[in-house]
Amino acid sequence: MALTTETTSEQKITALRHRHLLGLATYGADEIQLILETARRFREVLERPIKRVPTLRGVTVVNLFFEASTRTRISFELAEKRLSADTVNFSSAGSSVVKGETLKDTARNIEAMKIDMVVIRHRSPGAAAFLTKCVDSVVLNAGDGAHEHPTQALLDLLTISDHFPKFEGLNVSIIGDITHSRVARSNIHGLRALGANVTVCGPKTMIPYGIEEMGVNVTYRLDEALEGCDVAMALRIQLERQEAGLFPTLREYHDRFGIRLEHMERYPDLIVMHPGPINRGVELASEVADHERAVILNQVTNGVAVRMAALYLLSGLPESGVAG
Ligand code: CP
Repeated sequence: MALTTETTSEQKITALRHRHLLGLATYGADEIQLILETARRFREVLERPIKRVPTLRGVTVVNLFFEASTRTRISFELAEKRLSADTVNFSSAGSSVVKGETLKDTARNIEAMKIDMVVIRHRSPGAAAFLTKCVDSVVLNAGDGAHEHPTQALLDLLTISDHFPKFEGLNVSIIGDITHSRVARSNIHGLRALGANVTVCGPKTMIPYGIEEMGVNVTYRLDEALEGCDVAMALRIQLERQEAGLFPTLREYHDRFGIRLEHMERYPDLIVMHPGPINRGVELASEVADHERAVILNQVTNGVAVRMAALYLLSGLPESGVAG
């Protein structure tokens, strides 16, 4: 289905009001739409034989990763290279963090080397916001504990917009461990801002009390979550949660909340998303992960364009930068 940018009735803007990207909780629909529209334009750059524009030439970006990552880290690095930024990669293993250096001291020492933007992934909720108090650089949150993962939600929104003409009235079900999921929180904020209906589904032990206040429906039954649903977003089950007693066995989780081939057959228009990494046979049956209506690799592809858009818009550089 053709995509359109006319998903809400808000006024179009040409610059973000925010200086940082810490989460989508405070981003308006107009800002989210601006990022998506800019990402679509960068996606055209990524289709060219030479996938590089000079947009961020002279801008130095440091990727601070204090927690494991494959998709987010590589796509931020690729996005920076595609924009011609100078990039430096930091991971806590092998750094002075292992000698006890704090996040604040680490960041301030790196900033003393004259950097412009920082991408941070950290296991502590609020780490990205804390960083904005320690450094003058622009900060992009690449996932902070169970708080937010805004660029993941933005790439999810871009992927949804590739399949549906508008967000208003769209039914999206997020299935899994909602309590511990930064992906769920960012998606709920983004989807609600754009007018989608959101249902969360999972074991009672994994749905936080009072989540309805975020404007979502709650169900503990997968069939209810999938009935009338346009997009099913399965979340990774963190295997250590089983040790915490939040669900009995992975087999039982799959039987009650795993999306299986029978669901794809019963709901022929449903698309399935997953932020990765997937536990095959747990959140998704393996055939569902590889199904033609699973758009998981499209999400990953869109991640580069979305991160290019976020970096560019937050850089504050002039409009001409997109086309290169
Ligand atoms: N979706 C996601 O954040 O994946 P990584 O942990 O591999 O970055």
